[in-house]
Amino acid sequence: MRELTYVTPKPATLEDIQELVRDYAKAAENAMEAGFDGVEIHGANGYLIDAFLHHDSNRRTDEYGGTPAKMARFALEVVDAVVARIGKDRTGLRLSPGAYFNMATDSRDRAVFDYLLPELEQRDIAFVHIGIFDDSMEFDYLGGRASSYVRAHYGKTLVGVGSYSAQSASEAIAADKFDLIAIGRPFIANPDYVARVRASEELVPYSDDMLTTLV
Ligand SMILES: Cc1cc2nc3c(=O)[nH]c(=O)nc-3n(C[C@H](O)[C@H](O)[C@H](O)COP(=O)(O)O)c2cc1C
Repeated sequence: MRELTYVTPKPATLEDIQELVRDYAKAAENAMEAGFDGVEIHGANGYLIDAFLHHDSNRRTDEYGGTPAKMARFALEVVDAVVARIGKDRTGLRLSPGAYFNMATDSRDRAVFDYLLPELEQRDIAFVHIGIFDDSMEFDYLGGRASSYVRAHYGKTLVGVGSYSAQSASEAIAADKFDLIAIGRPFIANPDYVARVRASEELVPYSDDMLTTLV
């Protein structure tokens, strides 16, 4: 949203990809050394890993593009490298099966996530976290909400997100739609969000203007 200068991206070489996988593992190791409990690998919302997972952004014809297994390969290599470095219990992954953010939807993307999610399930990582601003969005090719689609294809711990209140999140968890909720904007507006929810106090509504005071 800022005034940035963009360059035309160029495809990563196979050497670039190997180096990137090592970088993710090193970053995870650094996070552990800095005292964090774990890392969430960002594989959502058009970030690098997500760019491999959608046909609109992945036009590769080598072993990282063209088929679901090849398109999922970079994501799985990063997960495997991070798990090898810090352990599966400390590794989470954020994913956006519904392309909606700086990306055109393509019904063929569904097959990529159909392949990726069971592969992830076998790796038994700490959690998968949906990347979306509003979980009421529905995607034709996923047969509904991104969270419902992931729930149906991934049997381990799932973190939901996207315009939930504590109340609506509790209801969704009680209905077994996901296991945990991530809260974003209400936390920006209410740094004492947990205490306020516990005490049933009113919340300050979020506004984008609040972001200017965060930087
Ligand atoms: C200021 C701001 C920056 C965000 N940056 C990212 C981001 O870099 N990557 C991402 O996947 N989601 C990003 N999000 C989305 C949030 O992680 C979250 O999915 C979204 O805000 C929905 O949750 P909420 O309704 O509880 O805020 C951002 C959200 C906000 C408000």
